[in-house]
Amino acid sequence: MSPTSQSETAETGRSVRIFDTTLRDGEQSPGCSMNQEEKLRVAHALAEMGVDIIEAGFPIASTGDFEAVEAIAKQVQGPVICGLARAQPRDIDRAGEAIRPAERRRIHTFISTSPLHMKHKLQMEPAAVLDAVTASVTRARGFTDDVEWSAEDGSRTDPDFLCRCVEAAIKAGATTINIPDTVGYAVPAEFGAIFTDLLNRVPGADRITLSAHCHNDLGLAVANSLAAVEAGARQVECTINGIGERAGNAALEEIVMALRTRHGVFGIDTGIRSEGITRASRLVSTITGFSVQPNKAIVGANAFAHESGIHQDGMLKHAGTYEIMTPESVGLVRSTLVMGKHSGRAAFRSKLRELGVDDIGDNAFEDAFVRFKDLADHKKDIFDEDIVALVDDELTRINDHIRFVSLGIMAGSIGQPSAQIVLEVDGETRWSQTSGSGPVDALFKAISALVEHQATLALYQVHAVTGGTDAQAEVTIRLEEDGKTVIGQGADHDTLVASARAYIHALNKLLVKRERQAPEALSA
Ligand code: KIV
Ligand code: ZN
Repeated sequence: MSPTSQSETAETGRSVRIFDTTLRDGEQSPGCSMNQEEKLRVAHALAEMGVDIIEAGFPIASTGDFEAVEAIAKQVQGPVICGLARAQPRDIDRAGEAIRPAERRRIHTFISTSPLHMKHKLQMEPAAVLDAVTASVTRARGFTDDVEWSAEDGSRTDPDFLCRCVEAAIKAGATTINIPDTVGYAVPAEFGAIFTDLLNRVPGADRITLSAHCHNDLGLAVANSLAAVEAGARQVECTINGIGERAGNAALEEIVMALRTRHGVFGIDTGIRSEGITRASRLVSTITGFSVQPNKAIVGANAFAHESGIHQDGMLKHAGTYEIMTPESVGLVRSTLVMGKHSGRAAFRSKLRELGVDDIGDNAFEDAFVRFKDLADHKKDIFDEDIVALVDDELTRINDHIRFVSLGIMAGSIGQPSAQIVLEVDGETRWSQTSGSGPVDALFKAISALVEHQATLALYQVHAVTGGTDAQAEVTIRLEEDGKTVIGQGADHDTLVASARAYIHALNKLLVKRERQAPEALSA
C-alpha cells in the first residue's frame, strides 16, 4: 500500500481524486441515517462508479457506525476506505481498527484551527492545537501510511497559523492535507488563494495531495471546490446529491460533470464513470428519503427536459443548441422496452438492467415483480419512473425490522374513518384497528399502536410519480423524537399504502438512529 502524492498525480496527467463523503458528512445531516445494509449498497454503487476514496463513516460515533465502516472495509473493493477521527487517541484507534480489513485504507483526522473554534469550541491555545496535529497524525501513521489531516474551519483560519499546522501535519507523515470551508463562508477567489498560498509557502506541500472540502451555505460549494482545483488541489471531497450538514456539501455529480463538460477550461480528469451518476443519485435519495429538487443540476427531473417551444425546436434541429452534455453521459437511458401487464419475468429483469439496477437479489426481485404485476393491473401505462420507484422502495426495505403486510381503510363522509393494519415486527405478525379524524390519522394511529415510539409527525407530503389519475403516489414523512429527525419514503398506486410504507420506513430509520448515542462526537 503506498500513500498517494501530488507528484504521482502530476505524472499520471492532470487528474483529481474524488473523495466521497456521502456515508459520513452526508449521513450526518439532520433526518438522514442509513443502516449497515444501506451503507453497503451505496458504497458498492460508489465503487462501481470509480470513486477514489470512500469516507465510510465515523467509527467512534457508535457501534453501528464502527460496524458499517468495518463491513465496507471487508466487502467493498477498489476505492481506498477511509474512517474519520478527531485528534484524540481513542478516535484514531477506533478508526484504525474499523478500516483494518480494507485492501487500501486511510485515516482522516481533523482538528479546528480557526481562532473562533480554538477559543470557543476546543478551548485550546494555538500551541496545544499544533501539538495535537503532530500527535494525531503520528498516531494515525501507526495504523496506515495513508493519512489525511484536515484543518476544520480552515477557510477562517489565520493564514500563517494554517501554514504552520499544515507543515506540522506533513512532517508527521500526512499524505493528504484537506482544507475545509466548514461553514460555507468562503468565495471562490479567496478559497483558491488559500491553496496557492500553501503551495508557495509550506515546505513539502508539492509532495502531498491538497484537498478541498466545501459546504454549501452560500450556494458556492462547487464553485469553491473548482477554484481550489484550479489553484492546485488534487482531491475534492463531495457527496451524492450534495447531501450534508445544513445546506449540504459540494455535489459529486456537479463537480465531475463540470470538469468533464468544461475539460477545455480545466484540463483535469477524474476516474469517475459518469454513467453511474443517475443510479447513485436515485439510490441515495431513496435510502435517505431526501428527494432531489426537480431543477437540481445534473440529477434533477428537469435537468434534461425541454419545455419551451423555442427550445424544443432548437433541440430537434441540433441537440447541442440547448444541451451541453448528453443525458446518456450521466446514465439517463432512453427507454427501449415498454412494460405492461403482459410483461414477464425476463422482460422485467431486462428492464431493470436497462435502468441500471443490477444489484437485486432473487428474493427482492420476486417481491418487486409481484408488486410490478399488481401495479400493471391498476395502471395502464407503466413508465420507467414507476419501476424505479417500486424497485427502490423494495430494495430499501430488505433488512427492516418492521415490514408492511397489508392495510384496510374505511374512509369517506359517512361514518368514522378507521384503519386495520398488519405488520411484521422482527418476524412476528401483529395487527391493530384504530379510528381517527381521517384515514391518514387512523392509519398512523394504528401503526403507533404496534410500534412503541414518541415521535411526532413533522411533515407529510404526497407527490405523483407520473401524470394521470392512476399515477403511483410517493409519500415523504418526517418524524421527530428527542431531537432526532428521520425521513421515510414509500411508493404505491394506493396513496394510503404509500403513506403506511413511508411511516414504517421512517420508524425503521428511527431504530437505527436511537443507537447512535454520541452526538458530541460528531460536532467536536
Ligand atoms: O466540514 C468539515 O470541516 C468536516 C471535517 C471533519 C473535514 O467535515
Ligand atoms: Zn464537512
